[in-house]
Amino acid sequence: TVTWVKTIEAAAVTRDGVARAQAGGQRLALYAVDGVYYATSDVCTHGQAFLSDGYLDGHLIECPLHQGLFDVRTGAAVGAPCTVALRSFPVKLEDGFLHVQVA
Ligand code: FES
Repeated sequence: TVTWVKTIEAAAVTRDGVARAQAGGQRLALYAVDGVYYATSDVCTHGQAFLSDGYLDGHLIECPLHQGLFDVRTGAAVGAPCTVALRSFPVKLEDGFLHVQVA
């Protein structure tokens, strides 16, 4: 069965483009790009930094620690020093809140 976990208000993500949330014991970074929402794990695969503290440019999130880049649509690592993808999760908007499928 598919489990959707209710997280934060979509408006909070739209405002800054990126926000943090928790779901099912996972730390998540949620993104809004051109009205579409995305979710990845929040912890960089290169070190101890949170992507939700990073800088979003188009579909790319830049890690605040060493400026590695990930594509928020897939979690793919697309800029050095990052080489390992982030987990990414399906997101849906319901009643103004983002729901994430973390299972
Ligand atoms: Fe994210 Fe190094 S911790 S690029």
